[in-house]
Amino acid sequence: LKQLPANTLLRKPLVTGHRGMPGTTDENTLEGARAAVAAGADAVENDIYMTTDRHLVIMHDDTVTRTTNGTGRIEDMTLAQVKQLKTKPSGLSVPTLQEFFAEFKGRNVSHFIELKSTTAGIVPLLKEELEKAGVRDQVVAISFSGDQLNRMAETLPEISTGFLNSSADAGDVAVNLRNILNGTQLYSSTYNPSFAGLTQATMEAGKHRGTTFWPWTINTENDFYRFYSYGTHGITTDHAYWAKDFPVAI
Ligand code: G3P
Ligand code: CA
Repeated sequence: LKQLPANTLLRKPLVTGHRGMPGTTDENTLEGARAAVAAGADAVENDIYMTTDRHLVIMHDDTVTRTTNGTGRIEDMTLAQVKQLKTKPSGLSVPTLQEFFAEFKGRNVSHFIELKSTTAGIVPLLKEELEKAGVRDQVVAISFSGDQLNRMAETLPEISTGFLNSSADAGDVAVNLRNILNGTQLYSSTYNPSFAGLTQATMEAGKHRGTTFWPWTINTENDFYRFYSYGTHGITTDHAYWAKDFPVAI
């Protein structure tokens, strides 16, 4: 932590394993999530879609082509078809959300579930699956989609949500703050921007108005420690093992 100025007030942010721990383990797999938690992550992040027979499955892209040995849109497949797929490069299976819930239920692990799909039926199905698994207290739903976050607020108002945003910094803290408050106060609990569009000045202004900051995807050690020193609330990273290098939390 040599990059931190002397006497910096250190507060450990919550470290989230982005798609598990890609780089060492295939993205969005149960094995990747286990690896991230074993490496020191406090939480894991995964993206979800709904199959034609109403199961929630974990995948980043809307097609299976990049990350598996198959082709086609994941939302055109049944669960049985998804379960035939093998992930690249290690040949692991594509997990269901229920498998994640079973893995982490009752453990000190939070699960950031990104509603990547804009399909409306996902939110009521998520409600059913959360009730079945009994893990409401461990999940945060995040999305770039205001429609999905509004549906979350109507259907599952007790679940924390995060407003994902990839906007560039406007260069004007007042403009940034207005955008943040418009987004977070309408339909979400937290602000989850791309780290590239987030400045220390904007964070300070937003924190003063009660916003919490959960930037993604921070993949260099310099940026990791830089946002740590800014007092970020969370850090989403492909390199969850960096969490182990944090000094004592306060
Ligand atoms: O945690 C937010 C982040 O996952 C959003 O980007 O493309 O990796 O889903 P993406
Ligand atoms: Ca994601």
